[in-house]
Amino acid sequence: MTVTRSRVVGSGSYLPERCITNAELADRLETSDEWIRSRTGIGQRHVAADGELTSDLATRAARRALDHAEMTTDDIDLVVVATATPDLTFPATAAQVQANLDIHRGCAFDVQAVCTGFVYALAVADNFVQLGQSKGALVIGAETFSRILDWEDRGTCVLFGDGSGAVVLRPEEGDGTAADHGILSTHLHADGRHKDMLYVDGGPSTNQRAGLLRMEGREVFKHAVVNLAQAVDEALEVNGLTGDDVDWLVPHQANRRIIDATARKLGMTEEKIVLTIERHANTSAASIPLALSEATGDGRIKAGDMVLLEAMGGGFTWGSAMVRW
Ligand code: UT7
Repeated sequence: MTVTRSRVVGSGSYLPERCITNAELADRLETSDEWIRSRTGIGQRHVAADGELTSDLATRAARRALDHAEMTTDDIDLVVVATATPDLTFPATAAQVQANLDIHRGCAFDVQAVCTGFVYALAVADNFVQLGQSKGALVIGAETFSRILDWEDRGTCVLFGDGSGAVVLRPEEGDGTAADHGILSTHLHADGRHKDMLYVDGGPSTNQRAGLLRMEGREVFKHAVVNLAQAVDEALEVNGLTGDDVDWLVPHQANRRIIDATARKLGMTEEKIVLTIERHANTSAASIPLALSEATGDGRIKAGDMVLLEAMGGGFTWGSAMVRW
């Protein structure tokens, strides 16, 4: 049976210049490099410069992804930006990115699923491509979480960083099996009963402010381990695969201990996990495309590799994507 798959034909990323180490944070907060590293795996985080917006980060990653794909903006008819830190309440950050790239056709919109945003955006774009509604899609994860952190709260401010990553999707014919190149499956989940465990205490309709991030870290941690195990299980099952068939696990980078628990569940060793958390910290929707861009750029992920993406974030939201590169 002939099917249309969304093939990932390029990726790119961008990190702001300024980098804050754990030691710098320890100078101004009651924390230590040892605590942050041992509890999370984080060593440093990048932070956007004054006036550097989420759309600026997104645009840089998008340009690099297009160059990598050897495509031009004329080939793009869909721009999806996954972000929880948009430039403005409206219009969508994707509209600004589209303008920055001088694209005047197709459609552009944001997807908001916090740290699961990139997996959600990838699933949405994949559906457009499969239905023939897009011949070239830019899927971007971009965040400036530094703007919504309470820098006095050591329980949250040490965890997050800014950055962006993008992929380009194009339709490619496949035979409907796991041997096809492209996105083989996506699974999305949400359970809004847990919305108060990870949220931002502001918004246009609530108090007309952007607000600051609040989290019950220990509770989020427990749910993440359970939900991500479920997400990877269903991705394997629907494709008739086992952990051994997966060449690379590219997880959302929130906590090294959560990543290790998911890898153990898959029976995967550390060499098969793309890890960026030490250098990037948690960049929310940007973490997976940032990791993808690094691992394709340095030749680890190659054409034909089976790549499993998974993420969990506020809402709660969680999900996975199985992609043959
Ligand atoms: O991307 C979206 C999803 N987000 C996540 O997946 C985050 C999930 N949660 C986590 O990663 C972890 O729960 C944290 C890293 C946030 C916290 O680690 P934990 O092992 O769960 O620590 P805890 O919250 O249970 O806190 C343990 C202790 C507390 O002190 P007491 O009450 O035991 O005296 C905290 O006050 O560590 C203290 N603490 C810190 N100490 C030094 C909390 N933050 C810090 C800090 N430096 N930065």
